[in-house]
Amino acid sequence: MTAPPGTPAVIGFEHVSKVYRGGRVALDDVTFSLPPGGRLGLVGESGSGKTTCVRLALGLERPSSGRLTFRSDPYPRGRRGLRPLRRQVGFVLQDPYDSLDPRMRLGEIVAEPLRSAGRAVPGRAPGEVAGLVAGQLAAVGLPGADLRAHPSRYSGGGRQRIAIARALIGSPAVLICDEPTSSLDVSVQSQIVNLLLEASRERGLALLFVSHDLDLIGRITETVAVMYRGRVVEAGPAQLVRSAPRHPYTRALHDAVPASHPRERRLARPSAGGAAAGGALAGGASRSGCVFAGRCPRATPRCHSERPPTVREQSPEGPRTYDCFHPISS
Ligand SMILES: Nc1ncnc2c1ncn2[C@@H]1O[C@H](COP(=O)(O)OP(=O)(O)OP(=O)(O)O)[C@@H](O)[C@H]1O
Ligand code: SF4
Ligand SMILES: [Mg+2]
Repeated sequence: MTAPPGTPAVIGFEHVSKVYRGGRVALDDVTFSLPPGGRLGLVGESGSGKTTCVRLALGLERPSSGRLTFRSDPYPRGRRGLRPLRRQVGFVLQDPYDSLDPRMRLGEIVAEPLRSAGRAVPGRAPGEVAGLVAGQLAAVGLPGADLRAHPSRYSGGGRQRIAIARALIGSPAVLICDEPTSSLDVSVQSQIVNLLLEASRERGLALLFVSHDLDLIGRITETVAVMYRGRVVEAGPAQLVRSAPRHPYTRALHDAVPASHPRERRLARPSAGGAAAGGALAGGASRSGCVFAGRCPRATPRCHSERPPTVREQSPEGPRTYDCFHPISS
């Protein structure tokens, strides 16, 4: 379910940049929007700025410049200001072993958003909260779970189900998932993906899904923003961008050998016409020219000295943008 055209984005990034101490540019003029009930993927190799977008969208950090909006309003500031936003935004992060406090019990972990939203516990009978938690755990495939158990009793997939239950219990409007399957066994990855898709479709929940895997994004989200070194280099309908990329980096990502863990990620050594292989930050990028010029097989001298403009293109599947002087034609 996506919102009718003209509905304000639930989360909007407008020309957002983030520069960390020491001058490291994590995001450079990033613009995208997530419509209510829509599904947007952020894809890119290690260090491209995906998690930085997530941290900004969760209000954990502030942009160095540009504007973030939540339902058209500027992002709130401070703990109190962020409270209403936190009620509306659930999240599932990469490593369920890190994201669940091992000292807490299942019942406390899943009920946490209700507590921090000030919505439950004082006003509700303990039995009522326990019922909500048990119902939510059943909805994510853990019926009859012992609410007094610690997360250590569960495998990675089970822990990620617990994290999803926690994210959904407050009925948020948005679910942000930062590589939620990349630390899981292949056998459980698709179960978790299906669970997230089901939750998004059934609840009309907007989904911001981060991955390094373009194929996976093509299965999950309607639109995609491809990131490279802090910039969105191509964006548009996910299937179109995956199957007929315009930007040489998108093609290189498409040809990449899938690797589940960030430490193992490399672009594949392509056959004809692909990008040169390299580690996540290998190859020289020039901030005055195209960010991909150091690795691009199509680069010309102009690419090293001028930043390519954002080209807008209309296709039957929807609008697409890309930053390239010499795009791949289909
Ligand atoms: N707190 C920080 N201080 C300084 N630099 C940072 C900080 N957090 C991230 N960075 C840098 O910002 C860039 C983007 O990092 P980010 O974690 O957003 O990438 P990512 O796309 O999520 O990568 P991965 O696929 O490895 O998770 C990287 O170069 C990273 O080293
Ligand atoms: S602008 Fe030039 S260097 Fe950049 S992606 Fe396009 S062809 Fe490659
Ligand atoms: Mg990350």
